[in-house]
Amino acid sequence: MNIKYIICLFVLITTLTVSAQEIELLKKWKYTSYDYGNAQAINFNDDNWESVTVPHDWAVKEDFNYTHDVQLTMVIQDGENKPDYRTGRSGALPYVGIGWYRSNYTASANELAEKVQLLFDGAMSNAKVYVNGQYIGERPSGYNSFYFDITKFLKEGNNIIAVRLENFNSQSRWYPGAGLYRKVSVIKTNKTHVKMWGTFITTPTVSTKNAEVHAEVEIIGNGNYTVVNEVLNPKGVSVAKKSQEIKVNGEVKLKEDFKISKPNLWGITTPNLYTLKTSILKDGKVINGHTSTFGIRKIRFELDGFYLNNEKIRFKGVNMHHDFGPVGAAFHKELFVRQMIKMKEMGVNAIRFSHNPPAPEALDICDEMGVLAIDEAFDEWQIGKVLNGYSKHFDLWAKQDLTDMILRDRNHPSIIMWSIGNEIMEQYKHDPNHITKFLNDIVKSIDTTRATTAGFNSSTNALESGMASTVDVAGFNYKPGIYHKIRETYPNLKFYASETGGSVSTRNSYKFPVTFDTEQTARGTSLNQVIYPDGQPGNYENTNVPWGYPPFKEFAALEYNDFVYGEFVWTGYDYLGEPSPYHNAQARSSYFAPVDMVGLEKDKFHLYKSEWNTTEKVLHVFPHWNLPEMKGTELPVVCYTNYDKAELFVNGKSFGIKTKVKPVIPDFLADTIIKEASGGTTMAQLKAYAIVWENVVYEPGEIKVVAYNTKNKKMAETKRVTAGAPFALKIEPELNSITLGEVGVYIVSVVDEKGNLCPTFNENMNIEVSGAAEFLASGNGDPTNLQNLSKPQRKLFNGQAVIYVQSTEFGNIIIKTSTSKLNTTNNLLIVK
Ligand code: GAL
Repeated sequence: MNIKYIICLFVLITTLTVSAQEIELLKKWKYTSYDYGNAQAINFNDDNWESVTVPHDWAVKEDFNYTHDVQLTMVIQDGENKPDYRTGRSGALPYVGIGWYRSNYTASANELAEKVQLLFDGAMSNAKVYVNGQYIGERPSGYNSFYFDITKFLKEGNNIIAVRLENFNSQSRWYPGAGLYRKVSVIKTNKTHVKMWGTFITTPTVSTKNAEVHAEVEIIGNGNYTVVNEVLNPKGVSVAKKSQEIKVNGEVKLKEDFKISKPNLWGITTPNLYTLKTSILKDGKVINGHTSTFGIRKIRFELDGFYLNNEKIRFKGVNMHHDFGPVGAAFHKELFVRQMIKMKEMGVNAIRFSHNPPAPEALDICDEMGVLAIDEAFDEWQIGKVLNGYSKHFDLWAKQDLTDMILRDRNHPSIIMWSIGNEIMEQYKHDPNHITKFLNDIVKSIDTTRATTAGFNSSTNALESGMASTVDVAGFNYKPGIYHKIRETYPNLKFYASETGGSVSTRNSYKFPVTFDTEQTARGTSLNQVIYPDGQPGNYENTNVPWGYPPFKEFAALEYNDFVYGEFVWTGYDYLGEPSPYHNAQARSSYFAPVDMVGLEKDKFHLYKSEWNTTEKVLHVFPHWNLPEMKGTELPVVCYTNYDKAELFVNGKSFGIKTKVKPVIPDFLADTIIKEASGGTTMAQLKAYAIVWENVVYEPGEIKVVAYNTKNKKMAETKRVTAGAPFALKIEPELNSITLGEVGVYIVSVVDEKGNLCPTFNENMNIEVSGAAEFLASGNGDPTNLQNLSKPQRKLFNGQAVIYVQSTEFGNIIIKTSTSKLNTTNNLLIVK
């Protein structure tokens, strides 16, 4: 027998004997979009429904169309003063409508005598759940996890679980996804068991020598038991153990304190995880077991900054929506890991899960990879932003949704703050119903070890009304110009930038001539809020949405206001929906991020990396050098680097050694201290964080940048060459192997005979997948591309595209791509 299987079998046997709690994933479902009135009935015939595997997003597989969910709206946050039609705001996909799901579950007589719970990690949306035709319960929020005790509705043998979901038009400001897009599990325990989300582990004192671990464990059931709680260190070795005799009659909460000497602290570079293993014993036999992962770490929120284990950490953060671009909202752990690897390479140390609780595995990954996290509950309170948004449910459900988010997620060491809202409209009315306090109190009644927060865009209102100081730490969206003023006026307020940036770009697109604002125009109406007819802004960071500003301004604001906890860029990855500023039937996905929707880097990625990544060297130059229309014309050549100096050569001719030019107090910061609005990009801003050769005459050939240290020693070089005729399609799997059922990702690049990327190639490509996987989706990072994401054709966009496959068996995956003139096969990705 294969050693891997022996290990799996061993793990399975140990899990079963130790835990006496079984978790079964409900993966195979039948699905239809037809609204049958009675599809929950046991005898309902679902033979003609589609067979699907959950996680499943039914809308992402459909065709784009700008008539889907057109929203007539006036977004005051965006500075609008009259209503207008927004197309593509929720992704131009038909997510509105009904989704019925049915699955079979076989129950044994044994488990019926004990307890069976049904857990949804999130279902989009307005879920109504039935077991054997009987209504069990419902949950309007599409993002919250929820569960039901279904024991008494089950019978021995086959059972039918049915779920009805319904999305409404104008329900969301971004693409929400549709269907059972996260895991569904059946959890089987003894009648006496650890309550769902019933453990809370905190670390009241922490040092490198000693730590105190405090565990609270809620047990449900009846009778007398022995409960053993054991702490396992990151290697799985038991380092502390305690036992208590308990009498349960309904519900009991027991508490244990442990002392751990020389703890392995959890931190960004040391994501050490401990486990609390709880075993409930009757007559010496384990009848229920439960494990909770936690970290030993200390967090402090001070006036001068945020501290993790006594070290001041500034947030180099990004906001993240929950979708995976072409794959939609269906949660695939490996795709989230892929996103996080890219973000960590950029230097990211924190994620704000905007604007809703993520899949639980996303937080596990933050724990495992050492990424700080903000768990956010709401984008709306009582006053809506969209016609059918969460405001419809707030009064009935907010308390439960917020409570459940905290109960579910409170053991994650990555979570440092609980956000009770993003840009909530109550700011403009000074929160007459005192919702800020109501929600803040709910959080505090469960967890006092972390800070509460909210993201405010109307800083003046939030500050004057006291909303900003009701939460422990305020978040401000798009306000780099006024940090100084806020500190002067509210000296006790702790705060960070919950959303930053706002320059828009598409990968490998350059628009000439490149115009920058003057100091004057940058402060007034920027010249650079340009809308390009082809929907493809360039990459010089000189095109902003009206409420945004270039990344440079935030860098400067944070450099000169070191008490601000740091920033969360809007967003780390581009996402489906919100194609600002291209609202008018021009685009269906966002433009803000340093990484496009399929995970390919824009130039901006290297800007952030050069500022944030302290362990890797960066030397990146742009634009690409296939610009025949620019022959004989001047253009700026820009280098993002963390080396000291760089020299540009065009076809061997030097344009001189240069450094970044940082004014002592940048004008563009000093001048905007009194101003909330942000404005455009000036050359001075760019030059403060990039090395720029302003007037380089384009001639085809090669640009080379050589980096030097302060002693003029050559450290590195990089080149962009004018690519020749397209010669081949290069297909590169991102990993060498994946496991069964996982999604694998390939990058396809059009290259010339010498292997150089052809960055202006935009032809259609056919995709064929065979062997150990199926084609899942593809994309190209072009927000205007309307090809169906789930069909095996994709236009290469500026030379590249990405293919997603899902493995179905062990072996080699074979992938063939072709355009009208090129074709290539690749069999490098293996399913192991
Ligand atoms: C903010 C909002 C985000 C997103 C962003 C786009 O106002 O909180 O959800 O819409 O603008 O810049």
